[in-house]
Formats: sequence, structure tokens, C-alpha cells
Amino acid sequence: METTYLVTGGAGFIGSNFILYLLAHHENIRIINVDKLTYAGNLANLASVESDDRYMFRRMDICDRSAVRDLFFEFDIDYVVNFAAESHVDRSINDPEIFVRTNVLGTVSLLDAAREAWRVGDDKYGDRRFLQVSTDEVYGSLGPSGFFSEDTPLDPHSPYSASKASADLLVKAYGDTYNFPVLITRCSNNYGPFQFPEKLIPLMINNALHHKHLPVYGDGLNVRDWLYVEDHCKAIDMVLSNGVVGEVYNVGGHNERTNIFIVEKIVEECSKAIGDAEISKSLIEYVPDRKGHDRRYGIDPKKINDDLGWWPETNFEEGIVKTIQWYIENRAWVKQITSGEYQNNYVQQYDQEKIV
Ligand code: NAD
Ligand code: DAU
Repeated sequence: METTYLVTGGAGFIGSNFILYLLAHHENIRIINVDKLTYAGNLANLASVESDDRYMFRRMDICDRSAVRDLFFEFDIDYVVNFAAESHVDRSINDPEIFVRTNVLGTVSLLDAAREAWRVGDDKYGDRRFLQVSTDEVYGSLGPSGFFSEDTPLDPHSPYSASKASADLLVKAYGDTYNFPVLITRCSNNYGPFQFPEKLIPLMINNALHHKHLPVYGDGLNVRDWLYVEDHCKAIDMVLSNGVVGEVYNVGGHNERTNIFIVEKIVEECSKAIGDAEISKSLIEYVPDRKGHDRRYGIDPKKINDDLGWWPETNFEEGIVKTIQWYIENRAWVKQITSGEYQNNYVQQYDQEKIV
């Protein structure tokens, strides 16, 4: 029987990679991609599957309750995978409200529509799933040792992570209160193709390729746990198929690196890839720290590994080279999006224009 997926935020970085992953790994599916197309949404990511009969796009704000409700009555949706969000921490520091609107109220709008359409007792009810794509940032910041597990208390610090934690609590509450089939995944930092160049890795690659300064916040020793995006997509696919309803699954690859390590690695690999000696560490510039900057994230992926057999297949050394190569081959994609609102935000953030 055909499985119908509602993928929200499918024109963004992880959502578009997820749609490409699903279409490559499953035959008998239908995907409805719902996206508002904010500055971060880009249908060019999905140009290769535009004419695939299994895929369709609807431009929609997940906060538009009546449109979302209608969609659930138009299509018999089996799985909801909610990627749609404002996702950038720096933007949330400058303008928290839109994060509350999309990340919290948007999630509630989807939950309510699904709850209304998915009737307890209908013969498909037991197979339906609402998967909330969350983040390790809801757990707050680690000291030098230890890892986040699914039982780590929520302790978000930025408006972004607070909005994601709020959404997680609401998703859990719908599960507990209405016996509604929810799942939550909490993933560490992703990197790979189609990531908007405001996030650390694509920003540094793009700036390095243009001989622009590489702005490192604070002392550069904050730690993130990097995961290649395709491995995240595989984890979500496995949680949808075999995860236990009501459970949380952390997704991460035991790949912790300091920011300065990442930036120096990008300098080295970009320089090597295009044979350009002007791409050097001299481009690195230490800039004032992010407000409330979490020091360290590190995921313990034991549960998803033991229970579902997931593990990250792409090691960082391989993944970063593939990613740099992708950005070199897709400069037109980057150029198309590094304009308009993004430019304004960038200028406001750094008080100067650093992107070509
Ligand atoms: P992104 O910013 O690249 O994409 C977000 C997408 O959501 C965009 O296509 C945007 O147009 C869409 N969107 C925003 N507001 C919307 C609205 N009101 N209605 C409909 N669509 C809307 O984000 P991403 O990095 O792909 O992250 C996707 C999800 O994964 C987010 O929920 C994020 O919190 C979570 N996450 C991201 C990472 C990461 O490293 N990027 C890690 C863990 C979890
Ligand atoms: O951990 C998962 C989270 O990872 C996701 O939930 C978020 O959606 C995603 O944006 C990401 O959040 P981070 O804040 O960790 O990612 P970002 O790429 O913005 O920053 C990574 C680290 O690099 C962080 O310590 C801040 C630092 N940084 C970032 C930028 C953009 C810099 O030093 N310089 C920069 O210019």
C-alpha cells in the first residue's frame, strides 16, 4: 500500500535532503512538500525530482490553520515529518518572535489538524505517525565531559532552542493527553549539500572560496557534534518505520570538533581542492562571541543504535571533502541565494559586507 508523507519545510536544507533520500530509497510513496519559502526555502534543491509523480509541492505557512486543516482532509496522510522552522540561532537572538510563531504555533497547528483528521478507530490509525524534527540544543550546554541522552533535562538557552523545546513539550503533551502517535528526534549539527550559507560550514566554505574573512565567534573553542545530513535522513526514515510511538531518539555521530578545527580544516581542503594558496589561515578573524553561546554539544546515540540499528556511515574527513566539492560545483546555487534579505541580515550581524 502507498504511504503518504507530509513533509513540512521540505525546501530547506535537511527537508530537501530528506525528500531526495525518500525518493531514492522507497518506491511506493507519495510526498507532499509544504513550505512557506522563507529566505531559507529554495525549490532549486528539488529541481531533480520536480517531475517525479511521487512528489508534489504546496506553498503554505504551517501557521495557517485553515489551510493546514484542509490539506489533511484533501490527502490521506500517513506520516507527518515536521522540519518547518526558523532554524538559525543568531537570527533568533535578533528577532525571537517569528521563532515562537513558526516553531511553536506552527507545530500546534499541524498537531491539531492531524488530530482532527486521524480518527481513533479508523483502520489506519495505528500506522500513522507525527514525527517532530528537533535538536540537541534543547538540552542546553555541556561541560568538558559527558553526553546528552534522551533523559537529559531540557535546558535551552537561545530563543531558537527555547522555541524548539516548547514545541517538543507540546508534541509530548499531545502524545500523553490524546494518545496521539508522536515521535521526536533530536539531532546534532548537520552539514552537507544545500545548507544555507549562514550556518558555520557553508558560510566558511563560501567565504574562503571568495577570499573573504572567516568570522570565528569568541575563542573558537566551542564544540559541536557534526553529522552528515544523509545520515540524519536515514535516522528519520528508520525512526518512522521502527521507532516506538511516544519515544525520543537522539541522533549524533560522536564527531565532536571545536569551531576553530572546522574552520582550519575548511581552509586546508578548499585551498587543496582548487589549488589556491590565497585561501589560508590568515583569512580567519576572531569576532565578538554570540550572546548566550552554548559551549559544547555532544550526543550519545546509544538508543537509536541499539534499538533501531542506526549508525552514521559518513565519517567527517570524507563528508567535509564531499561537501566542499558540492559547494565548488554549485557556486550558482549559492550566488542565487546570497542576496536580498540574507545580505541585509549579514550586514546587520557583522556590521560589514563579507559575502560576494
Ligand atoms: P532550514 O532553515 O534550512 O529550513 C527550514 C525550512 O522551513 C525552509 O524551507 C523554510 O522556508 C521553511 N519554513 C519556515 N517557516 C515556515 C512556515 N511558517 N511554514 C512553512 N514552512 C516554513 O532548516 P534546516 O537546517 O533544514 O532544519 C530543519 C529542521 O531540523 C528544523 O526544525 C531544525 O530545528 C531541525 N534541526 C536542524 C539541524 C541543523 O543542523 N541544521 C540540526 C538538528 C535539528
Ligand atoms: O545542534 C543542532 C543545531 O545546529 C540546529 O538545531 C540549528 O538549527 C543549527 O543552526 C545549528 O545551530 P548552531 O548554532 O550550533 O550552528 P551554527 O552553524 O550557527 O554555528 C555553529 C558554531 O559555529 C557555533 O558555536 C557558532 C559558531 N559560529 C557560527 C557562525 C555562523 C562562528 O564561530 N562563526 C559564524 O560565523
